[in-house]
Amino acid sequence: DKGNHKHFMLKEIYEQPEVVARTTAHYLDMANGKVRLPAELPFDWAALPRISIAACGTAYLAGLTAKYWFERFARIQVDIDIASEFRYRETPMVPGGLMIVVSQSGETADTLASLRYAKENGQHVLAVVNVPTSTIARESHIVMPTLAGPEIGVASTKAFTCQLAVLASLAIAAGKARGFISGADEDALVRAMMEAPRYMNEALKQEDHIASIAKGLSKARDVLYLGRGTSYPIAMEGALKLKELSYIHAEGYAAGELKHGPIALIDETMPVIVIAPFDKVYEKTVSNMQEVAARGGQIILVTDEKGAEHAEVETVATIVMPDVPATIAPIVYSVPIQLIAYHTAVEMGTDVDQPRNLAKSVTVE
Ligand code: F6R
Repeated sequence: DKGNHKHFMLKEIYEQPEVVARTTAHYLDMANGKVRLPAELPFDWAALPRISIAACGTAYLAGLTAKYWFERFARIQVDIDIASEFRYRETPMVPGGLMIVVSQSGETADTLASLRYAKENGQHVLAVVNVPTSTIARESHIVMPTLAGPEIGVASTKAFTCQLAVLASLAIAAGKARGFISGADEDALVRAMMEAPRYMNEALKQEDHIASIAKGLSKARDVLYLGRGTSYPIAMEGALKLKELSYIHAEGYAAGELKHGPIALIDETMPVIVIAPFDKVYEKTVSNMQEVAARGGQIILVTDEKGAEHAEVETVATIVMPDVPATIAPIVYSVPIQLIAYHTAVEMGTDVDQPRNLAKSVTVE
């Protein structure tokens, strides 16, 4: 049932504040400002030699975001790979490491094969899955569910933001256990996580503005998305969503890679969507935006009020997000990039819930 929404995807985008709240409530002891994982861990975070992550598509991009969090909070090395590459690469693995697989369906063939490889190679396997009865959930040592509820739209939306919520909770727990974040830091991070649903609601209010921006985007042949730090995986997620829904070619790039190739693409016809909260790397992204502006690129900036003030370039549109703590920015900024893809696809008249050539669950490699 789509309720009063035109598509399942839109309904699922709007469900996000609620399902992210449900998911964070499952992982956080809100009264005491602590992470409280719903399962016992069979390993000690402090003794963990390394974390590996494998997943596909959008789930992979949740994993890539988590790499930044685990490294920052827990000071632990993280390898992240696309499951179809990981499974055949014969990666050496230090026994006793942690393998995290991320999957909405829990049935993705390459992710399952990666899980089995990691198990054979002495890893603790932790699954972040949305379907608790799935094969991936059954075969993993530890299951950390996302409580997104059934996701009908082929393009993953609410499962993604719930994956981010679970992975951020895990990274905070790891940081605390390894002694790199204090009780006060943990409290502040938990409080930030608890605010995410409220900020997502605020972000949803940009829908009409985004729908008007999508009119212009629907005329583009190619769209470039740029981001730095945790905004880099969100840029890639934006590009993935746009291409799968609207069939417009899109690429997500690390902003700093611009001058190493993609800048050659930029002319007056090229929309460049810049994901840039006013964070530690904002200034660096501004200089990349200036490079785009100097070549006539059409900048659509997704930022907060401070970022909009300091942008120093002309944009064709600015989507202003609430001012959010850095840790939850990827969760909140997922909302506008989903709405951009959704409305561009609606403009194009494509089948939003069932894009051509795609399957909800990829059980063959
Ligand atoms: C994109 C999308 C896909 C899936 C990928 C993995 O919107 O939905 O990229 O994320 O096929 O699927 P799961 O998470 O079921 O393993």
